Amino acid sequence: MVSPTSQHDAEPPRAILFVVSAYSLRKRAFDRLEAAVEAAASGPVRLIRLEETGPSLMDALDVMRAEGHRSIRVQPLGVPFPEPLMNWLPGVMADWRARGRNADTQLELGPDPATDADALARFVASPLSTPARSVERVKPRLGKPGWNAPPDYEFHLLVCTGARCMIHGAASFPEMLKEELKAAGVFDRCLTTRSGCIYPCNQGPVLVLYPHGYWYRLPDQASTRHFVREVLVKGGVAEDLRFHTARAARAHSITNLEKLS
Ligand code: FES
Repeated sequence: MVSPTSQHDAEPPRAILFVVSAYSLRKRAFDRLEAAVEAAASGPVRLIRLEETGPSLMDALDVMRAEGHRSIRVQPLGVPFPEPLMNWLPGVMADWRARGRNADTQLELGPDPATDADALARFVASPLSTPARSVERVKPRLGKPGWNAPPDYEFHLLVCTGARCMIHGAASFPEMLKEELKAAGVFDRCLTTRSGCIYPCNQGPVLVLYPHGYWYRLPDQASTRHFVREVLVKGGVAEDLRFHTARAARAHSITNLEKLS
């Protein structure tokens, strides 16, 4: 169980792990945020994203414990912090504590920042004191010309990078998949899209292949390579990795690429 903060806790947590949920957070913005959390906290701190790119929560806790920290506060960051992730964090933190010797490390979960009304008001008011940028001279447009049509592709690969798949190794999965697609010469035939949670989190890392409607669990490089060679190159199925078939695909008994054309 996650140890609750109690009155007899004489010392404050020695380390803080800030966790942020932001799919579109690019490196420069992440670096700015990292600098801000380091400036704001007086002890050892780390910042991770729960989705999209690593390290995962479990890996970050492992690293902090390996660094010698035995008291860690996990602090959600972001306004509003997603409620589903807030509800999920205690359980996954408790799961980490139940592994190996991790029970020697006290874990606490900080509150959702949005529950502090004053802090929330300050956060909302803060940008209003900075001058805004005029758009009077900006050319009206709803998007770039290149956004008119989808790229030409044969396979659509939907790769889940949700927080729970991250726990199961999805943090490094998209890059690994890219390498394997290139090595097999099928990179240009694939449209790869990162997605948020698509439900079977316990099977992560999850990949869905369209137009087949097949769902795969690809936990490591060997299985990813096998999927790419067997399914995308040879037109097979890789039954050992497939754990689900979409209803439409089941109804039409799609078993190989020839039948799709
Ligand atoms: S987080 Fe990937 S399926 Fe839920």
